[in-house]
Amino acid sequence: MTIALIDRFRAVLPVSEATPVISLGEGSTPLLSAPRLSERLGVEIWLKWEASNPTGSYKDRGMTMAVSKAAEDGAEAVICASTGNTAASAAAYAARAGIPAVVLTPEGAVAGAKVSQTRMLGAKVLEVRGDFDEALAAAQELSHRGTHVLVNSINPYRREGQKTAVYEIVEELGTAPDAFVIPYGGGGNTSAYAIAIGELGISTPIYSVEAEHRPTTLASAIRIGDPVHAASVQAAGANIVTVSDDEIVAAWLELATTEGLFCEPSSAAGLAAIRRGAVQGERVVLTITGHGLKDTEAADRYAPPLAQVDADPDAIAAAARA
Ligand code: F0G
Repeated sequence: MTIALIDRFRAVLPVSEATPVISLGEGSTPLLSAPRLSERLGVEIWLKWEASNPTGSYKDRGMTMAVSKAAEDGAEAVICASTGNTAASAAAYAARAGIPAVVLTPEGAVAGAKVSQTRMLGAKVLEVRGDFDEALAAAQELSHRGTHVLVNSINPYRREGQKTAVYEIVEELGTAPDAFVIPYGGGGNTSAYAIAIGELGISTPIYSVEAEHRPTTLASAIRIGDPVHAASVQAAGANIVTVSDDEIVAAWLELATTEGLFCEPSSAAGLAAIRRGAVQGERVVLTITGHGLKDTEAADRYAPPLAQVDADPDAIAAAARA
């Protein structure tokens, strides 16, 4: 039976009997072995497949908490700024709670499917003439006015929900891994993992992997110039690794063709760091944060080209060999 993340982790989350559980069946995601990739890279890799969350990214772990608490507090509306995944997640959970959602996106900088998803889910999507950081500042300002509850990861309930990924990983492995490897955009997820590491009393280091050219990276989910959680990422002692877009693309294609997992480009940043040898440890967990179907524009740019063929078996056999 599907168990809501809040119910599964109730003992370690700031909820009470009075908290309405706004759930879409988030969390409890697969932890997959990666035999071929592990063999190639000479390190035991486990893949936390967060794309199997209800809206296709790990954001749902935090959003079930943020929106449930907003509902408990009688919020009239929620707001967020987003590069796309927080947007879709906020829209979904707000719809589930019957609360209006306002979503601010940097104009023209969000993958099309994420925008479609968010619009379908009924959020008011406003494209801000500016970058993510400017959109976030505006959302924060509105939340200070008291009309909208901010559901970005500055909202502490988001990080409380997101920390549960670490609980799942440690429970499933039966022990702490040697490293957690995750993409680094704003740093909210790094902060969330650090909370769980502290609570569990383990000493596993976090590798937070950012794009070299943050404001322009093809990995639009982590196209964030000024990470809002930079101080807590540093306080957590996370190892920050910087990878180029070329390295991200190579890792992204390798994950897809070697292990059969199609993620969005940002989610491959961690693998890029492992491939480069920047991650220490024999057994590492790589969190794959978002689904590849979220950004088919990027996929179309890098996937092998299509070929056309007549509906003729000989021609097809020849073309298939080519
Ligand atoms: N991976 C994906 C798929 C993301 O969407 C994000 C952030 C990250 C990694 C980075 O995580 O910010 O906690 O360090 N997406 C945000 C959004 C910014 O609006 O959807 P972080």
